Amino acid sequence: MNAKIALIPGDGIGPEVVAQAKRVLDKAAEMSGSTFEYAEVYLGGCSIDRFGVPLTDEAVETCKSSDAVLMGSIGGDAKTSPWYRLPPEKRPEAGLLAIRKALNLFANLRPAYLYPELKDACPLKEEIAERGFDLMMVRELTGGLYFGKRYTEDVNGVKNAVDTLSYNEEEIRRVAIRAFDIAQKRRKQVTLVDKANVLDSSRLWRSVVAEVAKDYPDVTLTNMLVDNCAMQLVKDPAQFDVVLTENMFGDILSDEASMISGSIGMLSSASLNDTKFGLYEPSGGSAPDIAGKGIANPIATILSAAMLLRFSLDLDREADAVENAVRQVLADGYRTGDIMSEGCTQVGTAEMGDLILERMG
Ligand code: IPM
Ligand code: MG
Repeated sequence: MNAKIALIPGDGIGPEVVAQAKRVLDKAAEMSGSTFEYAEVYLGGCSIDRFGVPLTDEAVETCKSSDAVLMGSIGGDAKTSPWYRLPPEKRPEAGLLAIRKALNLFANLRPAYLYPELKDACPLKEEIAERGFDLMMVRELTGGLYFGKRYTEDVNGVKNAVDTLSYNEEEIRRVAIRAFDIAQKRRKQVTLVDKANVLDSSRLWRSVVAEVAKDYPDVTLTNMLVDNCAMQLVKDPAQFDVVLTENMFGDILSDEASMISGSIGMLSSASLNDTKFGLYEPSGGSAPDIAGKGIANPIATILSAAMLLRFSLDLDREADAVENAVRQVLADGYRTGDIMSEGCTQVGTAEMGDLILERMG
């Protein structure tokens, strides 16, 4: 097959980890007899430096004309970087929100899985970590508070800031369908997380998702309030299969889910629209403090490349090869600094890439 892949190295550790993931994609292309053509795209701080804006129309067009996008990370240190002296709509994060919207990436899949080899890095009590967990967070990504009307006004000399949380039933339905489709291929449970005891939007989520559930009689739907979910994730994460939630709750809960899996450097993510197209990126950020040092963990980006192979290119065998190679590297005792534990061998970013490539077969 011929595929066109847009690469967004971005800022901070982004370029280093994307470089390793690209080597893995090249190997997957070789294994499957495919040709991957890459186009490099600027997003975030590096785009501000080059073009004065965090996202250009050309960048959007290049992504739209690709089969999939692989991204590193964007943004810098908010205290020291000049990017954060710009107005909010010109900062790196605005570019990320704009590309999500422009590509209609409404379903954000964030798997959180505890590798048995990384139990020592899990901050939960041993008896909880011992049970392991494997959940898929499905976060709505193009609606809610992130995209509602916002402004700051002066009311009789008192500053007043407004953010709007709004969802229509179509926005809820399409992401719910994604979540149920995924659950059908997993352990057939969906937990809808909301704040239906307070918010109207959450009550609409409950009724629309209950409707969707009728088409999936083999999948069990449970409702859970978001504050309870935050507790349950640290108390008994093994209870979750697919967690479906709106944009802001998903942002917060997905960081919590990644933390309990040992390191944010391990978790991949996929942002999908209603076709096979997707943008794939590690769940972690740009980590400016360790950028350029060659020590960042490339595994999350490499696993994101595996998701790209699976979801956008239907190269399941090659995706399996990548995931198995990651498991094997961990079993062989190799670790980057963020997941290092006693008795293991510490390696840098490129060496981790080498070790995974060697194990892909
Ligand atoms: C994420 C990030 C972004 C978000 C930021 C960088 C705007 O935290 O992808 O989770 O809040 O969606
Ligand atoms: Mg986040």
